Amino acid sequence: MSTTEHDHSTTTRLSLNLDGTDRTADVDPRSLLVEALRDDFGVTAPKIGCATGDCGACTSRVDGQITKTCLRLAVSAEGSQIVTTQGLAEDGELDVVQQAFWDEQAFQCGFCLSGMIFAASELLAENPDPSEQDIRWAISGNLCRCTGYEAIVAAVRTAAARQREIPQRG
Ligand code: FES
Ligand code: FES
Repeated sequence: MSTTEHDHSTTTRLSLNLDGTDRTADVDPRSLLVEALRDDFGVTAPKIGCATGDCGACTSRVDGQITKTCLRLAVSAEGSQIVTTQGLAEDGELDVVQQAFWDEQAFQCGFCLSGMIFAASELLAENPDPSEQDIRWAISGNLCRCTGYEAIVAAVRTAAARQREIPQRG
């Protein structure tokens, strides 16, 4: 990491792996990680909602951990591997959770989508057949102002059912 002067403001060079690609950008050392992802790296899937860790809109996976990226400074992610919901699709195909959210129309504005999808993915990795209560508990750290949550719960159920049909490797 190095610090340089640009247009009278001080920036810090930040290198990380973002959605499978090594990337470098000059960021304001005061930037939150979500701000740097959006403004400096141009990845807009994580949204800025509350910026206090309450809504989940900024969620991404950082070094394997589901992370509210408004709660970290960007510079703390030097060398990290970050996956946003933009990086979940493979060869242009949505992953099973994303596809279920699409099919169940489980979003409107999409602000909550990153948090909901990562929460659902984490739940299904641990529990392939969750109850409605399990699902509501798993997504409870994320706020949706649009859907009333019913379609989101349906989407997670659909994703779970489809995932159980996928033959397991090994
Ligand atoms: S913007 Fe990060 S939790 Fe709301
Ligand atoms: S779809 Fe708008 S906040 Fe959830």
